[in-house]
Amino acid sequence: MKKKGFIFDLDGVIVDTAKYHFLAWKKLANSLEIDFTEEENEQLKGVSRVRSLEKILSWGNKTISEDRFKELMAEKNEDYLSHISKMDENEILPDVPRVLHLLKELQQPISLGSASKNARTILERVNLKSHFNAIVDGNDVSKAKPDPEVFLIAAKLLDINPEDCIVFEDSVAGVEAANVANMISIGIGSEAVLGHAQHVFRDFTEISNEFIKSLIEK
Ligand code: BG6
Ligand code: MG
Repeated sequence: MKKKGFIFDLDGVIVDTAKYHFLAWKKLANSLEIDFTEEENEQLKGVSRVRSLEKILSWGNKTISEDRFKELMAEKNEDYLSHISKMDENEILPDVPRVLHLLKELQQPISLGSASKNARTILERVNLKSHFNAIVDGNDVSKAKPDPEVFLIAAKLLDINPEDCIVFEDSVAGVEAANVANMISIGIGSEAVLGHAQHVFRDFTEISNEFIKSLIEK
């Protein structure tokens, strides 16, 4: 059987942490008297912590000192971590374990490709760390999605050519990064948001074992 590199984003793909990022950013934005909508949140998915705060401040037309910026970043992360600390296996999104087990059975290399600096902590909390042959997260990259760096590093670690990699992503920026990297992009979410992905599924329950096998044989 052929070998492909399967790269998973974390937040919103493996676990539903996107909702915790949203809650933490909303609390922070509102404390600065900045409105924060679900549509704006969509633009923050896959985007690094620094870049997210820059965007929120620009939406609210606010300029702040470098020290205050650092304080706010720490505040957001503390709030986010308070949600994370309560997480367990129950927060793994439906059918993700089925797909991970299938890939293992088919001896396909698997990597994480996340923008989050909290990725390793989260994988440990939900007991999935051992499923990954490689982990690339926000601590390993210098350029944020939509730059393809995170996925290209993952491909290298798996020793698979980028064009033989498949990326599962829930964010606009992440799908773009996968496309730029010349990988097969699979959007997890709505077609309206992720129409630029090569395939879009609402969630993993819609992804059949046959579909995964067909990706390997391609
Ligand atoms: C991405 C999330 O996975 O990680 C973003 O989609 C988040 O919402 C980014 O801002 C950085 O995460 P963290 O955990 O390092 O703040
Ligand atoms: Mg995501």
